[in-house]
Amino acid sequence: MIKKIGILTSGGDAPGMNAAVRAVARTALRRGMDVYGIRRGYNGLINGDVFQMNERSVSDIIHRGGTVLYTARCPEFRTEEGLEKAKAKCNELGLEGIVVIGGDGSFRGAADLSARGILCVGLPGTIDNDIACTEYTIGYDTAMNTAMEMVDKLRDTSQSHDRCSVVEVMGRNAGYIAVNTGIACGAIEIITKEVPYDLNSIAKKMLETKAHGKQNFIIVVSEGVGNSTEIAKILEEKTHIEARATILGHVQRGGSPTVRDRVVATQMGHYAVELLEQGIGNRVVGMQKNEIVDFDIQEALSMKKPYEIELHNMAEEIAF
Ligand code: ADP
Ligand code: F6P
Repeated sequence: MIKKIGILTSGGDAPGMNAAVRAVARTALRRGMDVYGIRRGYNGLINGDVFQMNERSVSDIIHRGGTVLYTARCPEFRTEEGLEKAKAKCNELGLEGIVVIGGDGSFRGAADLSARGILCVGLPGTIDNDIACTEYTIGYDTAMNTAMEMVDKLRDTSQSHDRCSVVEVMGRNAGYIAVNTGIACGAIEIITKEVPYDLNSIAKKMLETKAHGKQNFIIVVSEGVGNSTEIAKILEEKTHIEARATILGHVQRGGSPTVRDRVVATQMGHYAVELLEQGIGNRVVGMQKNEIVDFDIQEALSMKKPYEIELHNMAEEIAF
């Protein structure tokens, strides 16, 4: 039976990480384990920046955005020396298992540490929903709802001014936030990296719909597609419809998590401890068909996630 575990959050923060930390801590304590919070991702593991948690350590955090454990990117953890330091620190502290809440990069680190005999379980925590082994990542729902609220506000002013609003949302290389936010906000066009686009056709569609009385033109662009300000400028030149670009940015990473993020984070945190309790490590927890499941980390990292092309096509069909 595992006696002592640690929890850390790594990579970009995501709303719901705190709910996951809470669920891990409370489940482990309930099952008689000692629990340590590790600050600032793998940095805290290497430097021994840890603290013992009790049931009150995770009080009043379920509704808070960000992560109470703080997060960081830790280049040293990618090195042999860094990994050996982390392993030595785990042995010194008696940590037999670690729950790592983060994205693919964090899972690579978790696999490396697992290979050194520390049982690691990864929980998918990122607003991007870009982790292949899971249909859902902690933070995704909150980020989309934040983006939707922001785009709704932009729509008010676009409608009043007969303008086009080009809104850039996050997602790293994935268009999941863009396509869902675009549908929820009635965008005339959704531009993601996964689907080729043509500004001439978009301009033509804007002019056709304008001729039928349309007054606001919301275009949701996924980050990394190109320069949103430039896209707005080109569309304005082609259509003579005034256009403004807005980059929503890190506002999408903050805020109080939605019900879905809190519940999924809690389910996943609970499940991670059940794995560790059975002495199972080197796993990533995910959601498939609404069930919580787990995968070998290497297998999870080798999986590919399809883009939601049906959603994209549906949005295209009804946008006019
Ligand atoms: P995310 O977990 O959100 O994908 P990053 O890619 O920035 O974020 O990774 C977070 C941290 O995970 C890195 O700063 C590093 O400490 C660790 N990490 C990333 N890639 C590796 C790797 N290949 N080997 C070991 N550790 C890694
Ligand atoms: O992975 C989450 C995310 O917010 C991405 O959507 C974005 O590309 C990236 O992190 C931004 O990273 P940083 O916080 O380093 O600016």
